[in-house]
Amino acid sequence: MYNSKISGLGMYVPENVVTNEDLSKIMDTSNEWIIERTGIKERRHIKKGDGNTTATMGVEAAKIAMKRAGIEKNEIDLILFATLSPDYYFPGSGVLVQELLDIPTCPAMDIRNQCSGFIYAISTADQYVKSGMYKNILVIGSENHSGGLDMTSRGRGVSVIFGDGAGAAVVSREEDLTKGILSSHLHSEGKYAEELALISPSTNRWVPEIIDSNDSEDISYYPNMNGQLVFKNAVVRFSEVIMEGLKHNNLSPDQIDMLIPHQANLRISQFVQKRFGLSENQIHNNIQKYGNTTAGSIPIALTEAWQEGKIKEGDIVVLAAFGSGFTWGSTIIRW
Ligand code: ACO
Repeated sequence: MYNSKISGLGMYVPENVVTNEDLSKIMDTSNEWIIERTGIKERRHIKKGDGNTTATMGVEAAKIAMKRAGIEKNEIDLILFATLSPDYYFPGSGVLVQELLDIPTCPAMDIRNQCSGFIYAISTADQYVKSGMYKNILVIGSENHSGGLDMTSRGRGVSVIFGDGAGAAVVSREEDLTKGILSSHLHSEGKYAEELALISPSTNRWVPEIIDSNDSEDISYYPNMNGQLVFKNAVVRFSEVIMEGLKHNNLSPDQIDMLIPHQANLRISQFVQKRFGLSENQIHNNIQKYGNTTAGSIPIALTEAWQEGKIKEGDIVVLAAFGSGFTWGSTIIRW
């Protein structure tokens, strides 16, 4: 019997800072509106030609995580890459990371669960390590949102929310069964698939069809979000799945030392914080600086919280996510 633990963390965001003021110069929005509705002050966007892609940002985060875990590239048994914005339609970005890290061959798997992607990936890594099959798994969450957003007033309801960036964790074998990843809890509800989605191009509506239709009203190649429905579902599902994880491990909310919620919207995080009676020291939010980086958001926030000394050995750390699919999940860790 083995347990699994997070042995190293890393993060990377592009240098280019885009403030709310910057956005208000190119679309009909304002600093006040964005802060009031989302808490976001600024985000990072890849700049054309700066060399960043979803895979390369993941690699930068991964290199830091591997160094902190004290492992070399030849010790990685599996790469799990969570993203909704892969470099290519196919293949996935996991294989690009394997090549960029100069690992001759190793299994690489992409996980397509959007904002919940990192939780799904951690859960997958946990099962492989606990079963004894693998010792060290590189888990990456990375997004290049800026390349695919509608940066005009038409897209303002979505485009002000999202940012680019990557986080990574090394999940390793742990012999002490009282420590490490205790459990993960995963859910999905496909009836809401189109409420937060990017519909085209798809195999039902391929690129030539979009071009041939010559329909300027067709913006199905931009993300579409029913913001209020997402908000309502997010607050319920975040609360449910955190409670599910606590109960499964005979823990109560007051035993949470650090909650890392997916950085969807500061208002959602604050709702959850209040629901569980958590103080400012028991939750880490950084959406103010980075926007919503989807699969990147939990590993970026977790890395930052750890770097700032907010997570100590023995702490109960809770990761929780909700997003497109709808999908949601939680992971409970004894650090
Ligand atoms: N700037 C200024 N005005 C805007 C903007 C903007 N960026 N975006 C929308 N508006 C306008 C709308 O056009 C609308 O104007 P109208 O009343 O004249 O029609 C008005 O503001 C209100 O729009 P709503 O969509 O009703 O605004 P709402 O208060 O719902 O806020 C928001 C929108 C922030 C998206 C909210 O619904 C929300 O937070 N939803 C949760 C979604 C979320 O967090 N998604 C993150 C990604 S998914 C995930 O990670 C789980």
